[in-house]
Amino acid sequence: MSIQLPENTKMLASSFTYGVATAAFQIEGANTEDGRLESIWDRFCNQPNAVKNNDDGRIACDHYHLWEDDIKLIQSLGVDAYRLSIAWPRVIQLDGQLNPLGVRFYQEILKALKQANIKTFVTLYHWDLPQHLEDQGGWLNRDTCYKFRDYANLISQALNQYVDSWATFNEPFCAAILGYELGIHAPGLSDPKYGRQAAHHILLAHGLALPVLRKNAPSAQVGIVLNMNRSYAASESSEDQFAGLMRETLDNQFFIEPLMKGQYPNILQVVAPHYLPAMVLEGDMDIISQPIDFLGLNYYTCNHNAFDAEHFFLNVKNSNEVEYTDIGWEVAPHAFKELLINLHQQYELPPIIITENGAACVDTLINGEVNDEQRVRYLNAHLNAIHNAIEAGVNIQGYFAWSLMDNFEWAEGYSKRFGLVHVDYQTQKRTIKRSGKAYQAFLKARNECLFKTVLEAQKTIKTI
Ligand code: FCB
Repeated sequence: MSIQLPENTKMLASSFTYGVATAAFQIEGANTEDGRLESIWDRFCNQPNAVKNNDDGRIACDHYHLWEDDIKLIQSLGVDAYRLSIAWPRVIQLDGQLNPLGVRFYQEILKALKQANIKTFVTLYHWDLPQHLEDQGGWLNRDTCYKFRDYANLISQALNQYVDSWATFNEPFCAAILGYELGIHAPGLSDPKYGRQAAHHILLAHGLALPVLRKNAPSAQVGIVLNMNRSYAASESSEDQFAGLMRETLDNQFFIEPLMKGQYPNILQVVAPHYLPAMVLEGDMDIISQPIDFLGLNYYTCNHNAFDAEHFFLNVKNSNEVEYTDIGWEVAPHAFKELLINLHQQYELPPIIITENGAACVDTLINGEVNDEQRVRYLNAHLNAIHNAIEAGVNIQGYFAWSLMDNFEWAEGYSKRFGLVHVDYQTQKRTIKRSGKAYQAFLKARNECLFKTVLEAQKTIKTI
């Protein structure tokens, strides 16, 4: 089993960017070192049973100390780009000024990536809000939006020369809804009125940071990363159809519509006004809907929804026999293609970059090897789904596999492995899995084919 795309696809061109992704809290560890402040995830991990096995981010993949080797690993995969996030509590002190030690850590990483000719995709917020801001209300407090803009301003000035692409937020849905509405993620609050207000403030913070990033980093690309799963109705019944629509509206449209059209979905005003943010000030929607250079999309799975009188929808399993990954997510590449085509038909989108896609598998190291055949199939099928979406007219310009290496999978702790590289958490030994080797081989073949094309072109030029 290998990763293969049709020979004539745009995805083999040099303009299509391939990478691997990680996020600060999931890999760095060293959460009290060099003046790093406490984040909401440090606090959440300390609540008994909030995270599986009471795992925490104190050591994680010890990337804070092992980053040089990790960059060599990234380089050895042959990717064009690396997507990482900055830990806000590592780089901004309590007085709002930069922490030089924290900044130096990222400067060195980014500099090393540039030297290795690897493009840098930086996300400013991958869920690790400084705890002292949460103590003031976190994303329920509008002031956090201005704090985010100030953080974006300082850090983009400090790192601008090494960054090709800035994303303001990773998955506002997860940060706001899992964190403030469903209580599954930090800070662990659970009320729709919190979730939707937090979401509005996150989108507003994105909009406030855009002009700042454009000013400080005029030649970089600036955008945001949304997560979307394709929502299906569990049956043809009108109730279930309604459930599917509500899931799609509350999870997906609620986030993309403000960005693309400057409004929250109209249907909510009629059927679920309590799922709309209570505090939207005049001008907010214009700030949120400013143009972006790219839309990052994270895709993993699809969902099926049955009618539920209290919550509108109830997540049910697919009634057909389908394949699941170790985290219980259905493998649904066809749904990926549909989702991309639907979005393309619904909105005037900027270029899309698939900023995350991957599978959790039960990976075991046997004789120094991990034979994660399911992940290879998963990657192959999803890359081909992207190819099909491009053929159908969707403008997609890049793909990042989640993740470079196994890491702290939020509420699931270290129990779920998403890496192309296996991490032994006792020894911190990294081992490239079969999927990592397949990605490596695929990229090598693509680069050879690019090289051949250049040679062919040169030959043609000579004969003209
Ligand atoms: C996404 C997150 C990422 C990782 C994957 C599996 O929602 O952005 O950090 O946990 O899921």
